[in-house]
Amino acid sequence: MGIARFSEEWIEQVRSAVDIVEVIGRRVELRQSGKNYVGLCPFHSEKTPSFTVEPEKQFYHCFGCGQGGNVFNFIMATENLTFPEAVIKLAEEKGIPVPVISPRERRREQEREQLRQVNLLAARFFYRNLRRPAGAQAWAYLQRRGISGELARSFYLGFAPEEWDGLAAFLQAQGIDLGLAQAAGLVTKGKRGYIDRFRGRLMFPICDHLGRFVGFGGRSIGEGQPKYLNTGQTPVFNKGQILYGLNWAKEEIKAQDQVVIVEGYTDVISLFAVGQRNVVASLGTAFTSAHARLLRRFCSQAIIAFDGDTAGQRAAWRGMEVLHASGLQVRVASLASGQDPDSYARSQGAEAVRTWLNSAQPFREYQIDRIISQHDVETREGKLAASTELVTLLAQLTSAVERDEYLRYAAERLGVREESLAAEVNQKLGIAKVPPVHNRRNLKNIPKRRRPKPPLEAGEALREREVLRYLLQEPDLLAELQQRGVSPEDFQHPEYRQVFVSLSQSIPDAQGTAIASRLLSLPAPTANWEDCLQSFLAVLQRRRLRKIEEKLSLLENDREGFDVRMELYQLIKEYFDIYHEQSF
Ligand code: CTP
Ligand code: MN
Repeated sequence: MGIARFSEEWIEQVRSAVDIVEVIGRRVELRQSGKNYVGLCPFHSEKTPSFTVEPEKQFYHCFGCGQGGNVFNFIMATENLTFPEAVIKLAEEKGIPVPVISPRERRREQEREQLRQVNLLAARFFYRNLRRPAGAQAWAYLQRRGISGELARSFYLGFAPEEWDGLAAFLQAQGIDLGLAQAAGLVTKGKRGYIDRFRGRLMFPICDHLGRFVGFGGRSIGEGQPKYLNTGQTPVFNKGQILYGLNWAKEEIKAQDQVVIVEGYTDVISLFAVGQRNVVASLGTAFTSAHARLLRRFCSQAIIAFDGDTAGQRAAWRGMEVLHASGLQVRVASLASGQDPDSYARSQGAEAVRTWLNSAQPFREYQIDRIISQHDVETREGKLAASTELVTLLAQLTSAVERDEYLRYAAERLGVREESLAAEVNQKLGIAKVPPVHNRRNLKNIPKRRRPKPPLEAGEALREREVLRYLLQEPDLLAELQQRGVSPEDFQHPEYRQVFVSLSQSIPDAQGTAIASRLLSLPAPTANWEDCLQSFLAVLQRRRLRKIEEKLSLLENDREGFDVRMELYQLIKEYFDIYHEQSF
């Protein structure tokens, strides 16, 4: 999303071209007061102005709520943009050309833009078709499902005609190269030319969070299989990064500081219909950390409202952990088996939906309740089995306060003494881990490497730093690192990465040097080079495992039934190669 890296000089150029008073003044009413300007703070509600803009320092600050920063921070905060997006926005306002990293990157961005254009044209084509005689059947289907014309318009719903080349012919008439349409996942090349990929389907256009058309979900309105056909992976459509509905819901998500996450397109639409407008759907795949990070930009609380069936509950369980790990407060609104938010909203109405969402449970409570409900805790065996699972869950909680809190809850629900359960949890936390025997046919049995404690981010940064410290003192060690395949990307801390880049290019750059001298002034690592190197390499392997785990659960949850076996096989193989090599 966006272009990630700009040179400091360019960012500086944009910063000095804009005047913070002018930029903020366009959004907040300011009046001069001495050297500064004051106004009503846009970040909290107030009656007397405590929001101050200092032209001299080009900073803003609110004495009421403590928000402050430079002009980029202001744009990021008021328009929900990332740093690069904010810089681009201001540069464009000032007519400063946005540099492209390399000709290759420029070509890629141009291609992505073209793909979005083709998707937009296709969306228009489908939209018109739904409203023509050819779309009558689909229209009737919508009516049956209780989706009004107004809703259909809001979500830009369309219909892909029951023809072989309806879209292909339309695009060609618009002068579109069908190779591009193929790259966008809209047509496929058959024996006699290009044919439409979506035929006889109700079309749900999918946008990225900036509202650009990037893909489609097509629902069959008859017996046709599969039920949903979605755009496959393209340079603008990666299901692991896109959330259906975010473009329409983001303002409301921000206003409520809360997002409701559902599984399906129709869930989003039906919740909208009853006035719940902070809803997004995860496109039938597992929740990824990229999804979570994206949402984290808009709010701090998430409610998971997945289908009541087993698949939905399993996906929800994984989603909670991912969302929680990214710092969101997670609650779960559960439904009876056989129900989904769409059917619930349509059968129960707005008021019931509000009550249902308000009664969402903190996700740890939900997990504990669910474990208990899956066992017959009236019998001794059932109680033991449930307690074993609860101990595993509780031992994973890294915060002692959280652990205590839920120990109490779990003990009470299970009907055992808190002390007994606590003793078992402590024992579990104390004992050495033995890798469990793995059953290859069931991915869920992949041992979680992060237990009992996830590796601390801070610890990882420290490992990066120690290696760099040595490197700065003994540049010869660089060769050894490179020989081990270490590349700049392996340093996640942006400053450390920069130091590594400038060291390996042996081109002095001011910023790298500044960071380097700061590093050198820190205390020297206590461990020797070999140990630092080993710990660092272990961090890299753990990161790779985490990536694979995420990918695996994504594939496992992929309901589209594409042929993913080969990729699964390779990932599992790599996973175990690393796993067996590891000794952490
Ligand atoms: N999905 C998919 N491919 C399928 C089935 C489902 O991509 N073969 C995705 C779609 O994004 C769908 C979501 O998973 O919206 C949830 O699936 P499901 O609950 O089966 O569909 P609903 O959204 O409830 O659709 P409907 O009400 O039309 O049956
Ligand atoms: Mn559903």
